[in-house]
Amino acid sequence: MLVSSTHPRWFAAATADLLALLSDHLHCERKAAENALSLVRRYPHRRGSVEALSRLAHEETSHVIQVAALMARRGWVPRADTPNLYARGLLAEVRSREPDRLLDSLLVAAFIEARSHERLQLLADGFAGAGEAELAAFYGALAVAEDRHAEIFLELGQVLVPAEPFEARLAALGLREAEILGGLPHAARVH
Ligand SMILES: [Fe+2]
Ligand SMILES: [Fe+2]
Repeated sequence: MLVSSTHPRWFAAATADLLALLSDHLHCERKAAENALSLVRRYPHRRGSVEALSRLAHEETSHVIQVAALMARRGWVPRADTPNLYARGLLAEVRSREPDRLLDSLLVAAFIEARSHERLQLLADGFAGAGEAELAAFYGALAVAEDRHAEIFLELGQVLVPAEPFEARLAALGLREAEILGGLPHAARVH
């Protein structure tokens, strides 16, 4: 679903400050859990989605614990969260009227998951190449989970509207996602 690929030079910039990267990653996982639960709060009547989103929040929370544990093993204390211009840019695309609002919220979440999958896999591959076995295994396992999460959000969105408008919105947001990401500098963060 991603329209663009991350630049090969991204890995070096992202890993130049591991404490900053892991701190950002911890907050990404926390926000993913919070976002899933906020969808439960906004749409409790959507049967099926409450269970799927709550399970997802549970899994994202376990990712927060895993990142925190890895940082603790290295004696690192997570830093405070900083504004995420990538997510902010995508969320600005969410339309305000229902059912557009729910569809866009789910598609934006799907794109964030898909991009996270791409980036975490790049971290897994890069760390493997650098002989950092613990970090390679850590990111490899998390990358698989984020790919599955993207699928969950797509499936929840697919049932809301007919196939044609769904594909059109997916394509439009895909272009916008690539544009937003392409406009951001490479930094020691996931996005
Ligand atoms: Fe996660
Ligand atoms: Fe996720």
